[in-house]
Amino acid sequence: MPNEVEVGPASEMTPGTVKRAGRYAVGNADGERFAVTRRCRHLRGDLANGSIDEAGCLVCPWHGAKYDVRTGRMVLGPQGVFAKIPGFGSIQKALTLVFPLGRGRVVERDDTLYVE
Ligand code: FES
Repeated sequence: MPNEVEVGPASEMTPGTVKRAGRYAVGNADGERFAVTRRCRHLRGDLANGSIDEAGCLVCPWHGAKYDVRTGRMVLGPQGVFAKIPGFGSIQKALTLVFPLGRGRVVERDDTLYVE
């Protein structure tokens, strides 16, 4: 299908998994498959190398910003030294109210996942 990117076997997308598929980070957060654009809104860290936390948020591998994968919005700003800058996390989160991560749709066909 045009505008689809193959993710891989559906059986490999177990809860907690995050994979790269074209411009998307595709994962499984508590049994819900998701696809969001890969570049963190902070400094463009690759979210396909991120992880899923206990609340089902996608965590950036660079500075620990967390995203709600259903909305694409940042729910926790960058951590470490960035967390010490007054207001910085709030500004980053507000930015994603206007510019959330893009979201794709994950579909399964013949035991293979695709994002469109
Ligand atoms: S690049 Fe993602 S939190 Fe900094």
